[in-house]
Amino acid sequence: MKNIVILISGGGSNMAAIVNTARREAWHDKLGARVAVVISNQAQAQGLVFAREQGIATELLEHKAFATREAFDAALSMLIERFDAPGQPALVVLAGFMRILTPGFVNRYAGRLLNIHPSLLPAFTGLQTHQRALDAGCKVAGATVHQVTAALDHGPILAQAVVPVLPADTADTLAARVLTQEHLIYPRAIAGLLQAR
Ligand code: GRF
Repeated sequence: MKNIVILISGGGSNMAAIVNTARREAWHDKLGARVAVVISNQAQAQGLVFAREQGIATELLEHKAFATREAFDAALSMLIERFDAPGQPALVVLAGFMRILTPGFVNRYAGRLLNIHPSLLPAFTGLQTHQRALDAGCKVAGATVHQVTAALDHGPILAQAVVPVLPADTADTLAARVLTQEHLIYPRAIAGLLQAR
């Protein structure tokens, strides 16, 4: 069984979309994969509630309990390792996980560490992507699923979705439109990667 480890910090709607798609599309039988655990660095992350309701294991690893990024990442690795099966290293999926990971961590998971970013990369890396897209007068916006490399919000692109920017858009309305697409492309990209492995 290929374990999928999902890391969240907040609402977890992308995580929920992955969990729901995995169930609907019977990833367990068709891809030999399952969402094994949802890990949060924030105790109040709403996504933890959903995961628990679904009977998925959850773990809380609060970054503020660690003195350095390296120490937090080392503890996170130890936690993830519990879900590596022999010859089947876990797929590590960042879904609104608001921590910058150290190069050591990223390199360790090379090829099996994914992220979703709410812009059409390589445009608008970092935060406030929707406001920046509006400020730049973009006529389209979107989201990107990519492999994670040591450079923030870079790394090979696995999937993208494009949405229109409408004249009356605010950062919030644009974010909501992009998010509906995130919920489609992230599960699809994960399934594609699992199939290819
Ligand atoms: C998403 O827009 C994602 O692209 C970004 O953070 C947001 C997380 O939303 N990295 P959710 O927690 O999945 O609802």
